[in-house]
Amino acid sequence: MTELTRSTFDKVMVPNYNPQPMIPVRGDGARVWDQDDNEFIDFAGGIAVNVVGHNHPRLVAAIKAQADKLWHLSNVYTNEPALALASKLTEATFADKVFFCNSGAEANEAAFKLIRKYAYDNFGPEKNEIISFTKSFHGRTLFTVSVGGQPKYREGFEPAPGGITHVPFNDIEALKAAISDNTCGVVM
Ligand SMILES: Cc1ncc(COP(=O)(O)O)c(C=O)c1O
Repeated sequence: MTELTRSTFDKVMVPNYNPQPMIPVRGDGARVWDQDDNEFIDFAGGIAVNVVGHNHPRLVAAIKAQADKLWHLSNVYTNEPALALASKLTEATFADKVFFCNSGAEANEAAFKLIRKYAYDNFGPEKNEIISFTKSFHGRTLFTVSVGGQPKYREGFEPAPGGITHVPFNDIEALKAAISDNTCGVVM
């Protein structure tokens, strides 16, 4: 195989991200090493969503045990690990139900749909407005780039979903002025 470098990314991958020049190849705890064996401390943790470190023996054992049993099922089936985790989460938190998804964009997309559906069912279709803040980022689906406050991620994909208002971040008076009887959610 040809040598894999950061420039391989520019050659063969769609540029919806702009990754760092260094390519991490292994990790242990809070540390990662690049292709040249340079050592780094990983302060990012998957932008704070996977802050479990690298190569933890219990996590590795759990992944290996599952890999020996069953890999992939469609939505036509449920599965024991998902049911076990959902039970743990509902027992440990305020939530009655769990929604599992594969990315932050999907989580936020689901949240925006959920607030609209709740408002629709309980107050009527006109209560659909979402308030968001300039410079915010909520994911790369059409709905989440529309709620996000950075036009550069939206441009070229219009028409965008409507009913979304952006107010300047840290301006409480602008936020108060934007909230009305038709507001169904505020995302910050
Ligand atoms: C604040 C915030 N929300 C949502 C997302 C979207 O998450 P994902 O990349 O997992 O879809 C990101 C990703 O960078 C983010 O930083």
